[in-house]
Amino acid sequence: MNAPTMQGLAIQAPSYVKNAKLIAWVADMAALCKPEAIHWCDGSKEEYDRLCQQLVDAGTFKKLNPAKRPNSFLALSDPSDVARVEDRTFICSEKKENAGPTNNWMAPADMRATLQPLFDGCMKGRTMYVVPFSMGPLGSPIAHIGIELSDSPYVAVNMRIMTRMGKAVYGVLGTDGEFVPCVHTVGAPLEAGQQDVAWPCNKTKYIVHYPETREIWSYGSGYGGNALLGKKCFALRIASNMGRADSQGPSGSLGWLAEHMLILGVTNPQGKKYHVAAAFPSACGKTNFSMLVPPAGFDGWKVTTIGDDIAWIKPGKDGRLHAINPEAGYFGVAPGTNMLTNPNCMDSLDHDVIFTNVALTDDGDVWWEGMEQDTGALPSHLIDWQGRDWTPQIAKETGAKAAHPNSRFTVAATNNPALDDAWDDPKGVPIDAFIFGGRRSTTVPLVTEARNWVEGVYMAATMGSETTAAAAGQQGVVRRDPFAMLPFMGYNMSDYFQHWLDLGRKLEASGAKLPKIYTTNWFRKGADGKFVWPGYGENMRVLKWMIDRVEGKASGTEHITGVSPRYEDLNWTGLEFSAEQFATVTSIDKAAWQAELKLHAELFQQLAHHLPKELPETKAAIEQRLAA
Ligand code: GTP
Ligand code: SPV
Ligand code: MN
Repeated sequence: MNAPTMQGLAIQAPSYVKNAKLIAWVADMAALCKPEAIHWCDGSKEEYDRLCQQLVDAGTFKKLNPAKRPNSFLALSDPSDVARVEDRTFICSEKKENAGPTNNWMAPADMRATLQPLFDGCMKGRTMYVVPFSMGPLGSPIAHIGIELSDSPYVAVNMRIMTRMGKAVYGVLGTDGEFVPCVHTVGAPLEAGQQDVAWPCNKTKYIVHYPETREIWSYGSGYGGNALLGKKCFALRIASNMGRADSQGPSGSLGWLAEHMLILGVTNPQGKKYHVAAAFPSACGKTNFSMLVPPAGFDGWKVTTIGDDIAWIKPGKDGRLHAINPEAGYFGVAPGTNMLTNPNCMDSLDHDVIFTNVALTDDGDVWWEGMEQDTGALPSHLIDWQGRDWTPQIAKETGAKAAHPNSRFTVAATNNPALDDAWDDPKGVPIDAFIFGGRRSTTVPLVTEARNWVEGVYMAATMGSETTAAAAGQQGVVRRDPFAMLPFMGYNMSDYFQHWLDLGRKLEASGAKLPKIYTTNWFRKGADGKFVWPGYGENMRVLKWMIDRVEGKASGTEHITGVSPRYEDLNWTGLEFSAEQFATVTSIDKAAWQAELKLHAELFQQLAHHLPKELPETKAAIEQRLAA
């Protein structure tokens, strides 16, 4: 009965779509997913407004008070669909060893057989949106095109903010251009006459990547990285494969890197500009750091944002590593954001924002934990992220959070007052320093400079971090999160370490000056369980030290894992932070480091297949220094 209906459902690609492979693929996917209609997104403002209104009518969006928050919306998700699902994320390479021990794996044929019945008819009663997008500036030689087919209009409108989305993509694609096919369904087909819900999803979830054929298939979730497939699925998991494959071809190319990194520009009072790319795990401060406002005592210093979450990094003709932000918007953590912690971010959120899972105020605006800092008081009443009444009293009695800890905003980069002029320059910006920073209550000092590339790769590879609400599952548990890429690595982690080492070695051999590598930890806690380091804008003190080191004008002290500043090496103007407090966030505890190195050993055991020998060698050197 479905077949004639499907043949009746003309694919009807707009006349400007000329890519035969794309049209055939859309037809195949429509035949499989059996949507009621197909909508080819053109990316226009009219289309965005129409889809937002449709989401309001369906009860998915609530339009916020236009006097307070013009052209902005709030979506409340199903309480079961609030974060990335790492245990349901798969890298389906032909060989298990190419996915490596840190990824879930299934043979492609088995996964295809598993997904086939799930996708069969999965879009019944819904519209399939064809979402054309470019990761990176449209038509740039470093950009890549994806087409996401989704039965979620929420995804379509979010993709318009997060990527360069719209019909211009088809012009770049032409008749035979390449694209990464991304299929997404909430997994909630509607039978004839069945009433829809505000946030359809399925308790069965699959986030699947086929690296060899460069395909993405996502089933059952409408939230964030599970559903906005340009982001983690494409720009990290598939792109990491692309970047490494590029180094293995006959071209002699060194390949490139797809990293979970913010990119910022920092200009010193002399007007000299530097660029820093920093990898912190999810919900560990990338958005924050990328929009940093220098505190008092840093007159003439300026920080500008190139990207807040993902960097694609390639060697340029000048031998330096150049980074671009493949995204066009921010999907950032709301709780904790306020005028003290991140004023640029707050200003970005004044208009044209989609909020998901924050609380609704009685006057039709949004609220989340941390905003009381700006107003000096908690609101007397809210509707919480689950649609329930919230009062300070209820919060006190039940601990109920008004906003989900992983509630987020979706906003265009162009809303950011600190946006760097070069943010969408196809050449990218030359990187002077990399930072790797975990969330650690103990052990890891505030900042350390690696003495060389290999030592830096070691520190990145062995980085640990406490888990956050950005992923479903237990929170606050220390796990190894190499390069802040554990959930986003598209191939074998040890091969990835090798790729980093090879790239550094080859660039250095060609006479290039490599970026310095640092590790940071803003999150050491005192005996009272509170963060000792003030963080946020005050991180400028550490950033300045790094830049001064790049210029060769700051000193430090050498210890087991590298070089760190002494108290007198940082600028303390405008902040009361004692030498004792500084010691609390920088001290190196021998016993803690012995325990830490055991965890590095465990990681290396897990990653033994293809583990570069430089890593255990570096570990042995650290152990020797620790024993001395
Ligand atoms: P993803 O989007 O998940 O990749 O996260 P992100 O790394 O961009 O994290 P974000 O900047 O959104 O920060 C997440 C949480 O960490 C927020 O609640 C911030 O308030 C908090 N945070 C950010 N920077 C700091 C800091 O320097 N110190 C402390 N203590 N907390 C911070
Ligand atoms: C992260 O979890 O690192 C994010 C949010 O940036 S999501 O896009 O949902 O992955
Ligand atoms: Mn992220």
